[in-house]
Amino acid sequence: MSRKPIFAANWKMNKGASETEDFIQSFLNKTQGLNLAADIVIAPPFISLPRLADLLHNSNPGKNAHAVQIAAQNCSQYDSGAYTGEVSVLMLREFFVHYVILGHSERRSIFGETDAVINAKIKKAREANLKPIFCIGETLEEREGGKLESVLKTQVTEGLKDISEKDLSDIVIAYEPVWAIGTGVTATSEQAQEAHAFVRSLIAGLYGSEPAAKVRIQYGGSVKPGSAAELMACPDIDGALIGGAALEPQSFLEIIKNGTAE
Ligand code: 13P
Repeated sequence: MSRKPIFAANWKMNKGASETEDFIQSFLNKTQGLNLAADIVIAPPFISLPRLADLLHNSNPGKNAHAVQIAAQNCSQYDSGAYTGEVSVLMLREFFVHYVILGHSERRSIFGETDAVINAKIKKAREANLKPIFCIGETLEEREGGKLESVLKTQVTEGLKDISEKDLSDIVIAYEPVWAIGTGVTATSEQAQEAHAFVRSLIAGLYGSEPAAKVRIQYGGSVKPGSAAELMACPDIDGALIGGAALEPQSFLEIIKNGTAE
């Protein structure tokens, strides 16, 4: 089963509109003429989405700008109305947003998002034909306490509750061990592969072996240009979700290149 790798930059709360523009102009110059065999996605803060949409869809003809797709870092589980501070899926669609990161560990641990909230957001995203990048992962305490499999099983089962097989085909899963996020400690390729294979087996249990073989599972957590090749060579790892190392165009590009090199 060949799955197209997907490399997504999660900028978190970094880069307003002008820094977004600096990054994109540089990234498009560097990628011009390259044929990268991967989906490339950038998730800026909400406030930078309009500038990013304009840069990728209007201002850079001939620079293969359409090869870069846009993600949001979150969305509301509601349609519209009295939800101060929230952004709806239809608002995102106006800015060529195709993906939305949901269930990130920072949303879970800092903003209290539960599996049920994440499940509601995944459903809302699918209603608007947005592709969720559905994040899961265990803390160090959970791993060391022997709870890796039970934590991942709960997150996957509850997050994907009542999600159809058809919708699953438009969902990307991101395995991000919390202890590897922003710490400089990358999971070893053995640890990552083992967790990815387990997640794929969970999907097989829920949907059957064919959907499980098709679903893309990204690794996230301190991915750097130097670690991308080894991680991406693992049979169940289908790309990366990158924080810090995707804030610089050159290092994001090197991760994509190293991660897709045959
Ligand atoms: P880092 O690459 O900075 O560890 O962040 C990973 C992450 O959380 C991506 O969503």
